[in-house]
Amino acid sequence: MNLLLNEEDKDGYIMNQIESINKMIENLDKRWIHYKTIKSLLEDTLNELKKIKFNNKTIQRTHERKIEKYINWVEVYRLANYHFSRYLNSKTSYSEGLFSTLLALNNMYIHDKSIKNIGIIGCGPGRSVLDFSLAYPNAKIHGLDYSSVALTLGKKIVSSCDKEIEIVRREDNIIIDKINGFKRNNCLWSMFDLTKSNIKEEFDIAVCSNVINLMPNHKEAINKIYNMITPNGYIIYADLTGWRIDRKEEQELLKDKDSIKKCFEDTGFVTIECFDGGPYVEKENDSNFIFYKQTYYIGRKCIK
Ligand SMILES: C[S@@+](CC[C@H](N)C(=O)[O-])C[C@H]1O[C@@H](n2cnc3c(N)ncnc32)[C@H](O)[C@@H]1O
Repeated sequence: MNLLLNEEDKDGYIMNQIESINKMIENLDKRWIHYKTIKSLLEDTLNELKKIKFNNKTIQRTHERKIEKYINWVEVYRLANYHFSRYLNSKTSYSEGLFSTLLALNNMYIHDKSIKNIGIIGCGPGRSVLDFSLAYPNAKIHGLDYSSVALTLGKKIVSSCDKEIEIVRREDNIIIDKINGFKRNNCLWSMFDLTKSNIKEEFDIAVCSNVINLMPNHKEAINKIYNMITPNGYIIYADLTGWRIDRKEEQELLKDKDSIKKCFEDTGFVTIECFDGGPYVEKENDSNFIFYKQTYYIGRKCIK
């Protein structure tokens, strides 16, 4: 795992995640059938974090509620199931429409062999990292996320050649499912916080799905992404819209497709296409599904 955090932030992020992961390990119950699987993921993450050099004396700990949520193993396995259950025994992935649409937009409007660097921002356990690494075998695909646990699992699934990686799956009860590593060797996995990003003109394509809507300030997040993209590069974006009413003003910018289009254009992107798509589907139980509206945007950072 690499670090794409500012020098002054990195100790806080690493120490905080080490502490939280140790606490999670302490709280695991040995009687659970998934005890060993979770413990091994959390220990692998600690080993990844310990490889990173940091100075634990000057710590400004970063305790943020959202980070705590996304390093939690429950959330990481939940996302891994949405991303990869098509490749697990269940052979179902109700969120498949999202990932296919991101690729379809790429295929229709970009698909350019000269693309060298692609950033998957808030990649979670890495489904889009896999998809874009297959679409662009000669490019470097950077999976960026602040969750060290999601990055560790993503790296194992997408980049390793490990056999039978265990995935905790919750159906009516808990199941341990298995997946083989995809052995992609053109991917990098980095700890990164979009709210603090100083990355400039790094990615020919930035892919960002279901992340910006979670951020404290949407406008600022889109600006940060704009800065990360090379001149004439592309943004492929998706978010769930029309599902939250209890938000602060600076978090209401991306509430529907018109506001999304305006916000990206105000930042400097030229719109290629913006539409309500989806639905994004989550399975609640055997007889019930929850549907969200997924809105898509593809645009270009055209420099005159
Ligand atoms: C809802 S998940 C979406 C994952 C994936 N992009 C998808 O569409 O399924 C949100 C992801 O964004 C990450 N995330 C949220 N805020 C972030 C931030 N400020 N910087 C980096 N990653 C962030 C979380 O850790 C989590 O993995």
